[in-house]
Amino acid sequence: MKNTNYQTALEYVEKINGQDHSGHDLAHIKRVVKMAREIAATEAADFDVIELAALLHDTIDDKVVSDPKQAVENVTELLNSLDLTPVQVEDILDIIQHMSYAKNIKEEYLLDINGQIVQDADRLDALGAIGIGRAFYYSGHVGEPMYIDPETLPPLTAENYRTPRGTIQHFYDKLFKLPDLMNTHAGQEMALERKAFMEDFVQRFKSEWNA
Ligand code: ADP
Ligand code: NI
Repeated sequence: MKNTNYQTALEYVEKINGQDHSGHDLAHIKRVVKMAREIAATEAADFDVIELAALLHDTIDDKVVSDPKQAVENVTELLNSLDLTPVQVEDILDIIQHMSYAKNIKEEYLLDINGQIVQDADRLDALGAIGIGRAFYYSGHVGEPMYIDPETLPPLTAENYRTPRGTIQHFYDKLFKLPDLMNTHAGQEMALERKAFMEDFVQRFKSEWNA
């Protein structure tokens, strides 16, 4: 893509996600960009839209910014200043505002192929060894214990989605469901492989916990 677009957006992201300690840091963003590029190679899609949406996808999240509405205005202004068509700007804004898991629990939203690829890339970063690392890291950040006896937990609802349930329960509540929700074939293959690794981890975790 046009190099200046990428560079300008990266500088914007560095300001917003550069100091994040909840798992939405620059390393996460850069992995999502890379993974999105990899998946995009197997699909007919708009590379410029995918790269920028991946780069900007966590700049409007309420876990990262204090005022998400203002953040949408800011990122709109940024996109309008780049060398993009109005259709591309609309597409990027549409993707980053509708791709999150939390939003999709409330209402299902059909993303276009560009959005589907970025969503798959973001979901892959919640799986595998990195996914395990990020889950414990996030729990530490919000002060959630790493394990709560599942017998003492109420069923998960949209309302208690943010009530602490322990890191391991998050694997069952969300992460293990991701492979079935993947949009692309390439993404699903990788998700299944990463999930299998996590299942081995959880088995070992429980056996050590109960030892
Ligand atoms: P999304 O971008 O789909 O909204 P999140 O921002 O909720 O995803 O999640 C970011 C990272 O934090 C992911 O790796 C996710 O697994 C982890 N995470 C989110 N909620 C929890 C939780 N309650 N316990 C442990 N990890 C969590
Ligand atoms: Ni993300």
